[in-house]
Amino acid sequence: MREKIIAGNWKMNKTVPEALSLVQEIKIKLTRSDYKVVVIPPFTALYSVGGAISGSPIKLGAQNVFWEDAGAYTGEISPVMLADLGVEYVIVGHSERRKYFGETDEMINKKLKAVLAHNMTPILCVGESLEDREAGRTINVITAQLKAALDGIPFVDIENIVIAYEPLWAIGTGKTATPIQAQTVHAFIREELNTLYGNNMGDKVTILYGGSVKPDNAADLTGMPDVDGALVGGASLKAESFLGIINNAK
Ligand code: 13P
Repeated sequence: MREKIIAGNWKMNKTVPEALSLVQEIKIKLTRSDYKVVVIPPFTALYSVGGAISGSPIKLGAQNVFWEDAGAYTGEISPVMLADLGVEYVIVGHSERRKYFGETDEMINKKLKAVLAHNMTPILCVGESLEDREAGRTINVITAQLKAALDGIPFVDIENIVIAYEPLWAIGTGKTATPIQAQTVHAFIREELNTLYGNNMGDKVTILYGGSVKPDNAADLTGMPDVDGALVGGASLKAESFLGIINNAK
């Protein structure tokens, strides 16, 4: 089902005390209930943040996952472990993981399947580089990423996936996609889902925009018909700016 979501990806930031102080402030000051609010702390703070938001409408997300349930995979975290902590959303295929840690479409596909198998919601990130955009390849890149990530995923599971369109050139750069640029790609993703799965699947999937979302551009971006919310990086690290985005969202 298509939901409205504002999710904060804290990336590699916040010790446990810092994470707790941030989430307590968000919890106390959150007034809006039409958007689902998801906080995505680093692994080390998942347990404490999960405890702090228990009983509140705020949901817990994780930034990454490995695809096996258990075993000799030093340093990895399994979907079983995340589900055990009350994690409901898992970011899969973030561009920083693709770029710095060599995540391939094949790995992303396995992770997506693992998250779904444990009844959590993957937030699948797709997005083009500046070079791709300038060369007119945006749509080709997004199509290839979607097809590879969704390969072999049954029709019934597609509605349970959230897609985040995060153009690489807009992440952490302060350069946001214009509302029209975001809307164009979001509408294309819906068309592509309709082509791949039929049954108006494109209308049923939640698609978030990510890349330099701030309180002052949140209304215009979320005001676009195919933008269901935002995946926020830098501005989710302070309660004031994260709540500003939530409050300004259309
Ligand atoms: P910024 O909001 O810092 O640009 O990060 C976006 C992002 O990568 C969210 O996953």
